[in-house]
Amino acid sequence: MRVLGIESSCDETGVALVETLGGGLPVLRADALHSQIEMHQAYGGVVPELASRDHIRRVLPLTEAVLARAGVTVGELDVIAYTRGPGLAGALLVGAGIACALGAALGKPVLGVHHLEGHLLSPFLGSDPPEFPFIALLVSGGHTQLMRVDGVGRYLLLGETIDDAAGEAFDKSAKLMGLGYPGGPALARLAEQGDAKAFKLPRPLMHSGDLDFSFAGLKTAVLTQAKKLGAELEPRKADLAASTQAAIVEVLVHKSLGALDRSGLRRLVVAGGVGANKALRAALEAGCARRNWRVHYPELRLCTDNGAMIAMAAAMRLAAGVQEATTTYAFDVKPRWPLGEL
Ligand code: KG4
Ligand code: ZN
Repeated sequence: MRVLGIESSCDETGVALVETLGGGLPVLRADALHSQIEMHQAYGGVVPELASRDHIRRVLPLTEAVLARAGVTVGELDVIAYTRGPGLAGALLVGAGIACALGAALGKPVLGVHHLEGHLLSPFLGSDPPEFPFIALLVSGGHTQLMRVDGVGRYLLLGETIDDAAGEAFDKSAKLMGLGYPGGPALARLAEQGDAKAFKLPRPLMHSGDLDFSFAGLKTAVLTQAKKLGAELEPRKADLAASTQAAIVEVLVHKSLGALDRSGLRRLVVAGGVGANKALRAALEAGCARRNWRVHYPELRLCTDNGAMIAMAAAMRLAAGVQEATTTYAFDVKPRWPLGEL
């Protein structure tokens, strides 16, 4: 079975084709991505209307490129999947509209996917797929959640952020240090040259006894520190970046290990854009290795938004029998959509 996946929930247009052969895991045949980062950079963040218009321009050429690379014709597709939510309404409508139009024109069924389930299942695209059950740490620009995953579609929320997401903490701190958008990768790069112990920053909710997170206070502490430094900020920027990253990473690691401890599970999956962070990966590896636990990641390039994870989630849902593709081409999108409602 061949599933085409279309992702358009935010500032990346992603298209991919996965194929299920026999009873095995679906495999990635081809994928293509266009990032709008450059376009939004001038505004310091994502401009929703510009995002939607750019998705419209990109989605069909990317689809043609994916089909050509896989050597598959559009008529040979079995299912067309798209991101139904959560995300920007206008951006989501582009992917949903194109997927349903293609489906209707070709007489093929369509399937709407939850964006976070895509991130959650993205490690199954790699060479070291996890086994169920596992704990998942979902860390993106919009979400920070710990989940117990017992199988496809069986997700139990254990804890989440009560304010900013981890990616937002990276992005907002980077912005007030003048590092541009999206700040996460830039802050991480600068942090490599800094001293993580240079500034004492808070570790919010670190010892709250539950698995929730809070990052809004950290951003304020970084702002206070930056103001205090004044003209001294420039030469101390790498130190401040390293200290900020260390605070975020320490909380994420502490809570993830706590979730493994409480559940008795021995496998951790890390997904979402912040999962690309090297310091986070190193700290999780070290913490888990000490206890003989395993950590699984998606391939680095599949940590951030992409079409492959959407095609994969759709194919896995179909294979597990938890969702059927439909030929009712009336569609809606869900800009707000808690994963627990799946
Ligand atoms: O999953 P994603 O591509 O989009 C959302 O669904 O939000 O995640 C984007 C987030 C941004 O906040 C970005 O700054 C962050 O992931 N990010 C990073 C790194 N790479 C991406 N944060 C820290 N270190 C990185 N290397
Ligand atoms: Zn995402």
